[in-house]
Amino acid sequence: MDDSRRIASLEDVPDETTLLFRVRKRGRLASKREAKLETESETKTEAEIGEESGDEETKEAILVRLDGDVAGWLNYCQHLTHIQLDKGTGATMRDGEIICENHGAYFESDSGLCTFGPCEGAYLNSIDVTVDGGSVFLTDEEYEYVGRGGIETDGLDRTSTSNIEF
Ligand code: FES
Repeated sequence: MDDSRRIASLEDVPDETTLLFRVRKRGRLASKREAKLETESETKTEAEIGEESGDEETKEAILVRLDGDVAGWLNYCQHLTHIQLDKGTGATMRDGEIICENHGAYFESDSGLCTFGPCEGAYLNSIDVTVDGGSVFLTDEEYEYVGRGGIETDGLDRTSTSNIEF
């Protein structure tokens, strides 16, 4: 496995919430990388160059622990797709489902299916990840791994509080 695509150790993925990380579409990074490498040291990783470029195409994603495995999803509700499920401290979960606190949508951790709420029947966007040797790696060919944690909060509504009671 490619160490530059290692997200976390399996132990770091919590049981009852989510682990937040960042990805970026590959094609876009590749063109930025080529431009950067013309003037900068080739010893930098793609992730380092991507971080410096402040690429607005960076997206948040989450890892969810399944029974003996891990699933990866983009961190956006399917009701209002700018709303994060994990706002930086782990998404709320109940009985193996990820809950969007804005309007109470429930998503199955393993399939991404919304089983209840305003986007019932919709699916979260998946990110391919694999567990290998006790670590979780990004294996999705569409994305580069950028880093752990969320995107800086400028302009994003992370303060939005729950409209429902749990
Ligand atoms: S924004 Fe997620 S349920 Fe409405």
